[in-house]
Amino acid sequence: MSATSSSLLDTLKQGIADIDRAGLRRRRRIIDSACAAHMTVDGREIIGFASNDYLGLAAHETLREALAEGARLYGAGSGGSHLLGGHSRAHAKLEDDLAAFSGGFVDAARALYFSTGYMANLATLTALGSRDATLFCDALNHASLIDGARLSRAKIHVYPHADVQALEVSLQACANDGTTKLLVTDTVFSMDGDIAPLARLLELAERYGAWLVVDDAHGFGVLGPQGRGALADAALRSEHLVYVGTLGKAAGVSGAFVIAHETVIEWFIQRARPYIFTTASAPAVAHAVSASIGLIGGQEGDERRAHLAALIERTRAMLKRTRWQPVDSHTAVQPLIIGGNEETLALAGALDEYRMWVPAIRPPTVPVGTSRLRISLSAAHGFDDLAKLDDALQTLSNRA
Ligand SMILES: Cc1ncc(COP(=O)(O)O)c(C=O)c1O
Repeated sequence: MSATSSSLLDTLKQGIADIDRAGLRRRRRIIDSACAAHMTVDGREIIGFASNDYLGLAAHETLREALAEGARLYGAGSGGSHLLGGHSRAHAKLEDDLAAFSGGFVDAARALYFSTGYMANLATLTALGSRDATLFCDALNHASLIDGARLSRAKIHVYPHADVQALEVSLQACANDGTTKLLVTDTVFSMDGDIAPLARLLELAERYGAWLVVDDAHGFGVLGPQGRGALADAALRSEHLVYVGTLGKAAGVSGAFVIAHETVIEWFIQRARPYIFTTASAPAVAHAVSASIGLIGGQEGDERRAHLAALIERTRAMLKRTRWQPVDSHTAVQPLIIGGNEETLALAGALDEYRMWVPAIRPPTVPVGTSRLRISLSAAHGFDDLAKLDDALQTLSNRA
């Protein structure tokens, strides 16, 4: 082994030891069952509060069947990238389904399907951003939006979380600089559960000749009429909106999509490198997602959203009774801020002894000093699951 490669190993070992000492080491757990409220994890039965399967569709029989049917129709893999031999009828149909379902915010809406939300965000910001663009980004945006912004080589202004006044000051300062302007935000913030002030953001975008790019990873399927997402929920319409939704959370499968004016989407097909230079996901997955859109938009979706809403209200009341700090969230993401890394890890460990999986979220995912338990609710949970979590949290809160 050369001196350089062994010193890289030493550097990495040192880095891992530092991560460990700071209480920031991540460990993966192995799941032996389908994603559901009751799961087998590392060989033990637990109640899961860790997934983003907000509607409880990941283990749904209809989607299992659709995936199997998709494999029978189209085989196991796509065989190529979308532009070179991998774009199947299932992908094309799904894009039409998605545009019809969530594209009501713009005339001439068209959808583009991606393998992951991470890639959809990289594609969106690199295809629309350039050295001649300025991106205005919420401080709590998801890592994939941050990475996409960096990769775009645009100028970046980060505004304090949800602070439209500070954003307007930045917009004013750049008003006449001739750059293309994009406001970029999560809709539901993934580690806080709060919702961006979308109507005010769009109003600012229109006033300053900017576009608004929203990442609705945690809103699609859950928010708005029929679960059509955050833009439908806020009844917003504009040609200058770009909507990113993901399909591995409420939709229960995987992948993501962008909906925008058809010209924007055609530009992506020509120029978005994270779309062009990668193998298309298995057509069977797209086939299953189409079935999921049917469930989300139907009566079953409405029933699941109503149950989820009741679980959210029960959880809010329960978290207020602990000695820790809940976040004022009305979504399925219910964080409980504990503070330090070690204390948060210890609490997650104690809940694990009660056979409950509630992940400890630590920096750099959240700011230093705000480590938290992220309780993620699903329509698959019953009130009895919440009662068990309540008992455990009250006991630990009184003991601490
Ligand atoms: C807000 C947000 N955007 C994008 C993503 C990335 O989506 P995907 O998991 O499909 O890559 C996630 C989570 O993973 C997310 O929470």
